[in-house]
Amino acid sequence: MSDPVFASALPRRVVVTGAAGKLGRAVVAHLRDVGVDVLAVDRAGGRDPRDVDGEFLLVDLTDYGQVVEAFSGGADEHTGRVDAVVHLAAVPAPGLLPNATTFANNSAATYNTFAAARAAAIKRVVWASSETVLGLPFDTPPPYAPVDEEYPPRPESTYSLNKALEEEMARHFCRWDPELVMVGLRFSNVMDVEDYAQFPSFDADPQLRRWNLWGYIDARDGAQAVERALAHDLPGADVFIIANADTVMSRSSARLMAEVYPGVEVRKELGEHETLLSIDKARRVLGYAPQHSWRNHVDPRAADARRPVSGR
Ligand SMILES: NC(=O)c1ccc[n+]([C@@H]2O[C@H](COP(=O)([O-])OP(=O)(O)OC[C@H]3O[C@@H](n4cnc5c(N)ncnc54)[C@H](O)[C@@H]3O)[C@@H](O)[C@H]2O)c1
Repeated sequence: MSDPVFASALPRRVVVTGAAGKLGRAVVAHLRDVGVDVLAVDRAGGRDPRDVDGEFLLVDLTDYGQVVEAFSGGADEHTGRVDAVVHLAAVPAPGLLPNATTFANNSAATYNTFAAARAAAIKRVVWASSETVLGLPFDTPPPYAPVDEEYPPRPESTYSLNKALEEEMARHFCRWDPELVMVGLRFSNVMDVEDYAQFPSFDADPQLRRWNLWGYIDARDGAQAVERALAHDLPGADVFIIANADTVMSRSSARLMAEVYPGVEVRKELGEHETLLSIDKARRVLGYAPQHSWRNHVDPRAADARRPVSGR
């Protein structure tokens, strides 16, 4: 079992939605590893729910009754009092399904999650927002770099519009309940270790991944951010960009900005490969400290063009 940094502050029993997904699997494994009692829920998205280890309940979050039962400890065999919810379930990117279908699923799933948590008097909710609210794919250049949480959401797709609305919804849920803690994590593009083999192929063309300022998040570091967010106990709604400390590129971050976004103000002295998706606030407030880098898994010079990584 790993040592959780804020073990004493971690909730005892947590529901994780989207538990069968890419990020969800890493989050469930990590939380269980640090001693959290996790009820994993998902509609499984075509995957066999038996693939998800440990306690699992098949729930379609667009059905409010199912969510209420899962969160209130009413489902047979899953009766423990729930202390917190980690909400990751969603159609995870623009363009996977028709816009209205994405919006209908993601908005209903999130409203039902927030509302059922409130009905069950659960005071901590951590959920997946997205880097897209920063203005991806940056056809309109970012206002400055590194981008941070200091400017209003700029959704450019229906998927992102929904994430921006979720952030607004969280603010109102917290206004209604002054004890509620809601943490939105604006994840960058989620990567598993297997995805890193293709990273060297990004180098040839700096335009290829300018859409998210060459950022990424290792699923294991994403899981660490969720753990830190669960330990956050300041009432109210807040949002944090969650990315790795470096970019996906071998070129320096300063050179990338000069080549691709020459008119954009760079507001700090950048480290060689420093992320252009600022994680300063997450470091400062949550104690988030990414542990992984693609550079530790593949040789940056070994170009290997494989399938693109989808999801935002
Ligand atoms: N993958 C990325 O690059 C990325 C980037 C930023 C934010 N995010 C966000 O992170 C979260 C997790 O993304 P992921 O990459 O693990 O996606 P994923 O598709 O691998 O997992 C999402 C899971 O949600 C489940 N789900 C969807 N709708 C549901 C519903 N109505 N009821 C129950 N379960 C439902 C799916 O079955 C799936 O298992 C999402 O909210 C996504 O928007 C992802």
